[in-house]
Amino acid sequence: MSTTTGTYGYGPDFYDDEQVFPRYQEARAATDEGNATLEEPHVTEFAGDLRGRSVLDLGCGDGRFGASALAAGARRYHGVDGSARMLALAATRLDPGTLEKADLTTWKSAEPGVWDVVTARMVVHYLDDLPALLGEVRRCLTPGGTLVISVEHPVVTCAYDGDWHDGVPSEMRVRNYFDEGPRDCEWLGASVRKVHRTLETYVGALAGAGLPLTGLSEGRPRPENFRDPRTGTARRAVPTYLVLQARKPTA
Ligand SMILES: C[S@@+](CC[C@H](N)C(=O)[O-])C[C@H]1O[C@@H](n2cnc3c(N)ncnc32)[C@H](O)[C@@H]1O
Repeated sequence: MSTTTGTYGYGPDFYDDEQVFPRYQEARAATDEGNATLEEPHVTEFAGDLRGRSVLDLGCGDGRFGASALAAGARRYHGVDGSARMLALAATRLDPGTLEKADLTTWKSAEPGVWDVVTARMVVHYLDDLPALLGEVRRCLTPGGTLVISVEHPVVTCAYDGDWHDGVPSEMRVRNYFDEGPRDCEWLGASVRKVHRTLETYVGALAGAGLPLTGLSEGRPRPENFRDPRTGTARRAVPTYLVLQARKPTA
């Protein structure tokens, strides 16, 4: 019997669900939580030194990355997201004038060519048309600018029917890896549609958009990022994040 409170095809509607939103915040606050331990360290490394940089953050969520980018010396930050609840929380951390509510499936930048760093953390797997977004990202970036994308690892986006315990999958079955496209996933008490893509599709989409790959991480656990070393060891079982870095050519 399903216990979900809603079924969402549009990612922001999922995050705006009144039960999902607090559960998501609670999950992000947990000790040794996945984003903080496995994804963020690689994103931070790929984004590089942000001092004096302009940062555009697609799918900015609750603005926590914006706050840390500005604390790291970024000259300017702009965040885009479709969720009203996420943006309301982001506005408590950031100047509301730097936040934009938009659907990234149709979003166009008002300021092309000015962003040194574009990040899209854990959002692209909610979007059907990756080439369209990457085309817009290329238009946004300065020549030589950096794109950092993080997504749920392709092994995970085709294996939602396993059980997860403390962030570690058990009984996880990879299913039809090469059948790409949307799959419904039960998470945080609701059902949300996520788009499964293979690793080669992600890398090929970057090349196709004129944004050659310059870095790739599968979120390898680093012991120093875990308070409880047992969690770090358990996280070695299955890769849960994929982080990609690409650069816009200078000419
Ligand atoms: C997992 S959260 C990640 C938030 C943030 N990037 C972070 O890493 O903390 C995914 C975010 O993507 C946003 N999102 C999903 N689909 C979107 C769409 N089509 N347009 C705009 N935002 C979208 C959601 O509203 C949510 O805030």
